[in-house]
Amino acid sequence: MHVAIIMDGNGRWARERGLERVDGHREGAESVRACIEAAVEDKIDQLSLFAFSEENWGRPADEVGTLMKLMMKSIAEETENLLSHDVRFRVLGDLGKVPPLLRSAIATLEDVTSSCKGLQLNIFLSYSGRWDILQAAKRFAASEKEPESASAADFAKYLVTDGIPEPDLLIRTSGEQRISNFLLWQCAYTEFYFTPVLWPDFRKPEFREAVREFAHRHRRYGLVE
Ligand code: IPE
Ligand code: IPE
Ligand code: MG
Repeated sequence: MHVAIIMDGNGRWARERGLERVDGHREGAESVRACIEAAVEDKIDQLSLFAFSEENWGRPADEVGTLMKLMMKSIAEETENLLSHDVRFRVLGDLGKVPPLLRSAIATLEDVTSSCKGLQLNIFLSYSGRWDILQAAKRFAASEKEPESASAADFAKYLVTDGIPEPDLLIRTSGEQRISNFLLWQCAYTEFYFTPVLWPDFRKPEFREAVREFAHRHRRYGLVE
């Protein structure tokens, strides 16, 4: 099973408490840890987390800087933990925009976990669905020998998610009911789960409740049952 999450509501969580937005991001990092743990314990195959969108680069520089620092810190602190739980770590997105130090920390962690066979953890960083489809289209046009006869599956090989099955369940926290440019191509038949819970409050019980609810969905893929 592949679970994807749009982790939203850190800013509002902080504001409700009279704290700074960055405090919300810090607490949100704890929810990331909790959901990874739940996914490992429940033997989920793939967990995809939308950590930072292409549009999020437009936020104030100090907030962007804090988010990048938090990611550096999480990588440093979680490496042993991920390895001991056999988690394969991957980062997907337009990494050319990411600070070089973070980029090399990501590459190292991807490398050391590359042969892990448990949960695959996909972090979407500097990612947007339209960017993904556009970069795929450019590479498709440049390399596909017979574009006229190509199928959707042939095209999907150029998306950054090549080799990763499409999400079965997409969770969005914080009460917003939109996709905000996440996995546009890949969510064609994904089940959506919206919850008012803000991301810093979304922990193991909330994660498990979403997966439980998903188990009752009937997926038809456009067919007659
Ligand atoms: C999600 O929380 C974290 C990122 C998008 C990086 P927000 O920062 O969007 O929190 P709200 O939506 O302002 O509450
Ligand atoms: C979506 O949240 C992006 C991530 C969670 C990384 P946003 O807070 O950026 O989305 P909007 O602005 O509410 O659509
Ligand atoms: Mg938000």
